[in-house]
Amino acid sequence: MNHLIIINARILTPLGTSAIQGKAMGTLFEIPNGTIEVTDGIITYVGENRSSLPEGYSVFDAEGRVVLPGFIDSHTHLVFGGYRPEEFIWRMKGDSYMSIMERGGGIINTVRATRETSLDDLKAKAEWYIDVMSRMGITTVEGKSGYGLDKETELKQLEVMKAINEDPNRKVDISTTFLGAHAVPTEYKGREDAYIDFLIDEMLPLVKEKGLAEHCDIFCEKGVFTVEQSRRLLQAAKERGFGVKIHADEIVSFGGAELAGELQALSADHLLHASDTGIQAMAENHVVATLLPLTAFTLREPYARGREMIDRGCAVALATDLNPGSCCSGSIPLTFALACIYMNLSVEEAITAMTLNGAAAIGRADRIGSIEVGKQGDLVVLDADTPAILPYYTGMNAVRNTIKRGKIIY
Ligand code: NIG
Ligand code: FE
Repeated sequence: MNHLIIINARILTPLGTSAIQGKAMGTLFEIPNGTIEVTDGIITYVGENRSSLPEGYSVFDAEGRVVLPGFIDSHTHLVFGGYRPEEFIWRMKGDSYMSIMERGGGIINTVRATRETSLDDLKAKAEWYIDVMSRMGITTVEGKSGYGLDKETELKQLEVMKAINEDPNRKVDISTTFLGAHAVPTEYKGREDAYIDFLIDEMLPLVKEKGLAEHCDIFCEKGVFTVEQSRRLLQAAKERGFGVKIHADEIVSFGGAELAGELQALSADHLLHASDTGIQAMAENHVVATLLPLTAFTLREPYARGREMIDRGCAVALATDLNPGSCCSGSIPLTFALACIYMNLSVEEAITAMTLNGAAAIGRADRIGSIEVGKQGDLVVLDADTPAILPYYTGMNAVRNTIKRGKIIY
């Protein structure tokens, strides 16, 4: 079984079973030279080194290295067919993300490819990304549907994630999100409300009945779905017991953060153009503000106001947004670097954002996100005695080992 003892670790972790808001994000609990015991995948001891070791455990000597909770990427679109490098090149030449989408490219391009790709091929591709990300310290990842926009393909994407979650040797757990409202499918062009009705009346009950998704998300954006359509879908999803999340204020300031506050969503994500009232609404209603700096970087957009959000009392999480369009990257090292360099988060705040607050953004802060007795033995060992290496190794991997439920997977 997965019985593991890590000794001589510089343990650093946020504490608790809910998101940490505001400046408290910058305070990590520390044991300078300690031990973590994982029994059957669950943490059973965290504290000073002990004089003797129990029998039946593998011993891992961290030799003074930093040990953190496993990283949680709480926003990805990791199940998709095809790629869109040509759009990337067009953008480098001055095209905008939305103008490509308005011309019928963008998300709809990937919808076409995803409809044509088999479940097995989608799964193999998602597993490749998961493998790469686990080597950068990811132990839990959120994954969205949203490249089907029809019954069959939305279910296929969710079934890919289910199949990965059912594999006892999986490296990473996937938290699943139904994003049927990612774009308006060609078949429903000009009938957006009818598409929302279809999602509410047919898809939500089906996805719930099959147990295929924990959360429901929508691309609430000018030219995609309105605030009113988003409210309607997410309210219905909440009533059916889904956690709700919103792609909010990514391209323009649109009222998405305010809506997230009103609905007490688990998270509002992107937020490049979140307004002051939106920031206040998120802080007051305990909505996790999930920031995706890799997307701002690749779209050449200004970064979200992460520093201000924390100073105004928000719980901030960091995630990659891995997807074939706006951000074809799952780079955890670069996410840390951009968050610290351009959004002015401290290293400690960035760690809280990538661990406990990420866990809260997917409704799992009771199980993962910190190094505490009773939580899963999901851990990261850095190749240094200081956490500063995370942003300092700009874009390079500072992770030496990744541990999932007490098993060394990297
Ligand atoms: O989070 N903005 C909407 N969805 C994704 C992009 C999806 C795509 O372009 O394929 C995002 O940026
Ligand atoms: Fe996204």
